[in-house]
Amino acid sequence: PRPILLTRHGESRDNVRGRIGGDTVLSDAGELYAKKLANFVEKRLKSERAASIWTSTLQRTIITASPIVGFPKIQWRALDEINAGVCDGMTYEEIKKNMPEEYESRKKDKLRYRYPRGESYLDVIQRLEPVIIELERQRAPVVVISHQAVLRALYSYFADRPLKEIPHIEVPLHTIIEIQMGVTGVQEKRYKLMD
Ligand code: F6P
Repeated sequence: PRPILLTRHGESRDNVRGRIGGDTVLSDAGELYAKKLANFVEKRLKSERAASIWTSTLQRTIITASPIVGFPKIQWRALDEINAGVCDGMTYEEIKKNMPEEYESRKKDKLRYRYPRGESYLDVIQRLEPVIIELERQRAPVVVISHQAVLRALYSYFADRPLKEIPHIEVPLHTIIEIQMGVTGVQEKRYKLMD
């Protein structure tokens, strides 16, 4: 069996302010997570010469990967966070106040709701298909450093969770989800590196 390690980027400045989307750098806590993650990965994948690190094209994942040395890094646009369209950069409070209909429609059907000029969870699931095909094809371990909505979709694929649950699955910050694909099925471990 070979592991797939899934993690969100370290806490970003937008996470601290509760803003969705964006492309900010990390907070101090996020920077610390990046170092702890590098430590973990270097130990866990020590003798795995063919392992690779996959990030999105957004700064917060690339910076989170940067302390990891000794493995090739690949950027995928398909691993970018759900595109919140006109709501990008807003807080949930601001959306609720300024665009109450949008807020309500999303609450009613988070899976299918598409942000104006942005994406829905179903859109994200669809664009992840090539990433999943490539992950399945890999023989060596892969570390995927991505974002909340994207990781909900990726995790659900491997953990075989129903579609309707995807937008609500918990994928906390500063936690590594290790998935082992063996002949007997899929096993999962979680490592919480920080509070
Ligand atoms: O808040 C962090 C974040 O990654 C946002 O950039 C993104 O819009 C959101 O999470 C996705 O989570 P949800 O679908 O629950 O709003």
